[in-house]
Amino acid sequence: VAVDWDPAAASKGGHASFMVKEMLEQPEAVRRTIQDRIGIDGSVRLDGLGIEESTFARINKVVVVACGTASYGGQIAKYAIERWCRIPVEVDLAHEFRYRTPLLDARTLVVAISQSGETMDTLMAVRYAREQGAVVLSICNTQGSTIARESNGVLHTLAGPEIAVASTKAFLAQVTANLLLALYLAQFRGSALREETFAVAKELRRIPDLIQRTLDRAGRVNALAADLREATSVLFIGRHVGFPVALEGALKLKELAYIHAEGFAAGELKHGAIALIDQGQPVIVIVPSLRHSSLLHAKVMSTIQEVKARGGWVVAVADDGDGVVAEWADEVIAVPESSPLLAPLLTTVPLQLFAAGLAAEKGLDVDQPRNLAKSVTVE
Ligand code: G6P
Repeated sequence: VAVDWDPAAASKGGHASFMVKEMLEQPEAVRRTIQDRIGIDGSVRLDGLGIEESTFARINKVVVVACGTASYGGQIAKYAIERWCRIPVEVDLAHEFRYRTPLLDARTLVVAISQSGETMDTLMAVRYAREQGAVVLSICNTQGSTIARESNGVLHTLAGPEIAVASTKAFLAQVTANLLLALYLAQFRGSALREETFAVAKELRRIPDLIQRTLDRAGRVNALAADLREATSVLFIGRHVGFPVALEGALKLKELAYIHAEGFAAGELKHGAIALIDQGQPVIVIVPSLRHSSLLHAKVMSTIQEVKARGGWVVAVADDGDGVVAEWADEVIAVPESSPLLAPLLTTVPLQLFAAGLAAEKGLDVDQPRNLAKSVTVE
């Protein structure tokens, strides 16, 4: 009996694309990355990293290197490590790092983030860092990859295979791994914010359910994508960890829907980019939690007002508990409330759905966007 069965379609699990399937797998990707690494009391352990605790104890600087989406995850690591561990963190694009003679020594921890573990730019940065005597920890999704093998140690993200070219679930898993690393370093080196690190780690255990709740609200985001079908340019702005989220939202829109998009730090808008705002310009704003950071929230509200005053059309991604943002924004996409450093695990999700939704509206292949490769193995 001949069976009409397309193996590629079957492995999409009945979804329209690998990307849709992978976006829906995000709660599981994060759950697996956390599993066995956070105790019920909020203590974080990272067994089998391949780097001695004594090495972690003496580092005095962290340098994160990565490309593309992984580099935005790396920017979030900076906020977490500097807050909880009080160790200075630099974040560099791997191809820039390698060619600017950075200052590295045996007390520098270089964190190389790569889904594939094969990105040549990142691999060359790893080799350079090791030549300079730095300790290299890679955060990779692919077991046995070249970057993982050439690093001193590896912290695996457990997102499972990612087939769609543009990264979704691997990004959330990378952000999770970065947070785990920050919490681990803070807890064993001793942090002035010790209680906060345990509380946030406990909260991280519950994040997969909140990611699921965010995904359940996809209908509203898809309607927004349909409204913006004709857009030729979309701006994304955010502050604090909302800034790298804005950069990632803009990258997703470029990659999937071929729409010009740019991400900005909200505070930077007035220093130039505000000249781009005219009647009807869509601006997507990542709003910090009102309850957790009222100061940052107020700053972002004033940026929204500046955009509105110039005719911009504002879509805010804000948390459920925000009773203020609706007064100013044209549209609000609500996500569950979380503490500030965990928020990217939630606020990124509607931006991914939005980019994929717009690409679908335009009839584009979200799994294999033009000109892009899943893993760029040339410098
Ligand atoms: C390519 C992909 C991007 C990805 C980047 C880094 O450019 O198209 O989606 O973010 O490589 O990939 P990596 O495997 O190192 O995370």
